[in-house]
Amino acid sequence: MEKKRPVALITGAANNIGRACAHEFAKDYFVILADLQDASKVVDEIGDNAICVKGDVSDPKDCRAWVRTAEKFGSLKCLVHSAGITARATPIEKLPLVEWEAIIRVNLTGSFLIAQAAIPALRRTRCASILLISSRAGKTGFAALGVNLNASKAHYSASKAGVISLTKSLAVELASDKIRVNSIAPGPIEGTMLPKAQWVEISKRVPLGRLGKPEEIAAAAYFLCSSKAEFITGHILDVNGGALMD
Ligand SMILES: NC(=O)c1ccc[n+]([C@@H]2O[C@H](COP(=O)([O-])OP(=O)(O)OC[C@H]3O[C@@H](n4cnc5c(N)ncnc54)[C@H](O)[C@@H]3O)[C@@H](O)[C@H]2O)c1
Repeated sequence: MEKKRPVALITGAANNIGRACAHEFAKDYFVILADLQDASKVVDEIGDNAICVKGDVSDPKDCRAWVRTAEKFGSLKCLVHSAGITARATPIEKLPLVEWEAIIRVNLTGSFLIAQAAIPALRRTRCASILLISSRAGKTGFAALGVNLNASKAHYSASKAGVISLTKSLAVELASDKIRVNSIAPGPIEGTMLPKAQWVEISKRVPLGRLGKPEEIAAAAYFLCSSKAEFITGHILDVNGGALMD
């Protein structure tokens, strides 16, 4: 009989990076695919060892419900938080407060809420870990891409800078519980967040000459959550084709 698998809770798992993480982690973990959208297609792709749960990462009740569901399937070993939303580039003086708050609410407050909900369950598991997806934009600001210097996604980059800082604070705070906390800061990745019409132009600004693939983020996420990375915590891993060498 197969040994009971550890459980990985993956947010944003209906699409792209989260979906690729679901496939990667399903090799060894029982995966809980959490998303605002229905992720049952991804469950079908994976087969056994996956279920999906719907909800909003910016709602603390949904986050707690996801964790309760996860613990029904075994010990929660990792939280991979990929759910996030992007923003339209806007001159800062024209940026409505409601748009600023919506981005901060999902990307930053959502990271806090899902971590907060998962920590008690992760503490009950030996050597657990949290992996938050931030962004290269959280390190450099969005205007650094140079697409349009008169408008930026200041709210998006500020939210992701917050995720980077949250990662480091949690890494210190949770170290005595042996919970490791890391982040991946992806550069431009294939998917719907970046309009396909811009891919060629964006690729020209990436030293490796292309966009990344969601599977490449998933492979790095899997490593950071694995026992091979047991001495790595508080790290922000650039996976960006050389677009930023930090
Ligand atoms: N694609 C890129 O180029 C890129 C680059 C850097 C960072 N990132 C970050 O990587 C993460 C994943 O990006 P992606 O390309 O897979 O995006 P995506 O839009 O393809 O997928 C994001 C998923 O998150 C879900 N989601 C959105 N809001 C949610 C909420 N409130 N509650 C629950 N689920 C919610 C969506 O339904 C979707 O399935 C995001 O955090 C994004 O900011 C992406």
